Amino acid sequence: MKILAIETSCDETAVALLEIEGPLENPDIKVLGNSLLSQAALHEQYGGVYPSLAKREHQKNLPILLEQTLREAFPSPEVQEKDWDEVDFIAVTSGPGLEPALWTGITFAEELGKRWGKPVVPVNHMAGHIYSVLYQDKFSISNFQFSKLELPALALLVSGGHTELVYIKDFGHYEILGRTLDDAVGEAFDKVARMLGLKYPGGPKISELAEKSRERKAEINFKLPRPMIHSKDLNFSFSGLKTAVLYKIRDKKIENEKDQEDMARAFEDAAVEVLVEKTRQALLERGEEVKTLIVAGGVSANRQLASALEKLMEDFPALTLRLPTQELATDNAIMIGIAAFISIKTNPDILLNLSPIKANGNLTLTSFQ
Ligand code: KG4
Ligand code: ZN
Repeated sequence: MKILAIETSCDETAVALLEIEGPLENPDIKVLGNSLLSQAALHEQYGGVYPSLAKREHQKNLPILLEQTLREAFPSPEVQEKDWDEVDFIAVTSGPGLEPALWTGITFAEELGKRWGKPVVPVNHMAGHIYSVLYQDKFSISNFQFSKLELPALALLVSGGHTELVYIKDFGHYEILGRTLDDAVGEAFDKVARMLGLKYPGGPKISELAEKSRERKAEINFKLPRPMIHSKDLNFSFSGLKTAVLYKIRDKKIENEKDQEDMARAFEDAAVEVLVEKTRQALLERGEEVKTLIVAGGVSANRQLASALEKLMEDFPALTLRLPTQELATDNAIMIGIAAFISIKTNPDILLNLSPIKANGNLTLTSFQ
């Protein structure tokens, strides 16, 4: 089936045209066209995403990205009616995310749906992150990327807005085992980066600095807490970690570049250790029923996290680890199209009962069923 997917939940405007066939656990996904515009540079001055600016930019960029995507998919001088007529349906993120930003994508998708005479299907952004791991990068050398996605799975979802451990019994059946009680881990990366004078988004920049500190191979002086690492539940908390960094800055412990790099490393180590230990606890609790560990969302692009997870896998040899490709870790429209495919295959009735789509900034994986 051919799916036109639209994503505008945060500060990335993205449109993709996909052709997806085959079994849910190992579909053949062809990306016919894909365009993405990140607004990160515009939001930099605010140290985070500014909703009304995001909305304006999405509105401006959506028609441009749609045209780019269609031209890539159908490289004729003009996009002809018969070309988009091959599209089976339009998929759009309806939540969670920033509501003004979500509404721009929904309005655009519904107007297009009317114009093209195609159904429009709402997609949960977090389901998009989960199923992003189904996209297999043909150039990837890691062989786990080419296997079937075996369920049940445990998913560690780590993004700018979410930190969740989700049990996926079957496609479309989710149970939230734990979540952050305050900041999301990506948000903590962004806030700590800002405190250290780095630009938004902070995750990649913190990682870069932390690597420089590791290259020195010296012990570091900063000790940071591992919030909730020994709590009996599977919830997270990252605001204490952020405050601990703030106190070190206030106490003038960060005087030069080397201190800044060491602090980035101390923070990254603490955040990664908490994520990995909570994941271990969830795997132990769920026992042998879990076949796959999915780690997805923007922070899954973090190399330190990926190598700590590979080490964790040594203690769970029967388990397969699935991470998205770097391109699909952060927000994109390809993952929205894949999640729409899963949603339609598992519940074909949604194409029959389409009502106007509403943005829901707080949509959860369980409220969507
Ligand atoms: O999934 P995503 O693109 O957007 C949301 O749905 O929130 O995640 C964005 C988050 C940002 O907080 C960004 O700093 C973080 O992912 N991020 C990283 C890395 N790349 C992106 N965090 C740590 N290390 C990275 N390499
Ligand atoms: Zn996301």
